[in-house]
Amino acid sequence: MPNIAIIGGTGLTQLAGLTLTEQKSVETPYGTPSAPIRIGQLAEQEIAFLARHGDPHQLAPHQVNYRANIFALKTLGVKAIYAVNAVGAINSTMPPAHVVIPDQIIDYSYGREHTFCDEDRSVEHIDFTYPYADTLRKALIIAAEQKGISCTKSGVYGCTQGPRLETKAEIDRLERDGVDIVGMTGMPEAALARELGLEYASIALVVNMAAGRSAGIITMDDIKQALEEGIVKVLAILSQAIAH
Ligand code: HPA
Repeated sequence: MPNIAIIGGTGLTQLAGLTLTEQKSVETPYGTPSAPIRIGQLAEQEIAFLARHGDPHQLAPHQVNYRANIFALKTLGVKAIYAVNAVGAINSTMPPAHVVIPDQIIDYSYGREHTFCDEDRSVEHIDFTYPYADTLRKALIIAAEQKGISCTKSGVYGCTQGPRLETKAEIDRLERDGVDIVGMTGMPEAALARELGLEYASIALVVNMAAGRSAGIITMDDIKQALEEGIVKVLAILSQAIAH
């Protein structure tokens, strides 16, 4: 059974380099995960891979069944998750195609099934002071250094509801809050992993400057270009982190 899982986000529906050995369609008490879970070898380690938005990409961030995804990985014996998140950058030191390993989260999403504490489970107030696992964050940072890929070693991830992008005023507000990068899928995923005792870290890829932070509007063409350029770095860092 794999100890490590990768949850792939936008631009990472299939994991290049994964030698597939098995594909599992898992059902959970919370419903069906976004896609069958692929199990195989990456960097000579057995890992599980889950496409967060489905394969092919079809689920918007608010439609993802985060509980089913995390529960299914736990059921397969996974202990640690590397989550890939495409983000917009508010911090001007983080240009498109740049990699950020965030260390904090502010959650602005709403209306998502965000906890396993429901009728069948007693209430547990998990500690979430440091939402990402330091061991995994360090592994990613060291892997980036070993690969000679520049990355920002900390940052605050703001999770908005989407699927629309933000207004300039919303981004101004997030900046006042201290948010460096903004995405739509970081929560409740990170908190659900903590509820089930799974180690979890994010490798965030900047695919655009956030609203009002670059000249003109944000286009899908620009996002696609940054994704193509950046995803190569994300894969190299992940392979290196997993190999070691
Ligand atoms: N805002 C929110 N989520 C995102 C963005 C953004 O600018 N870019 C990629 N995901």
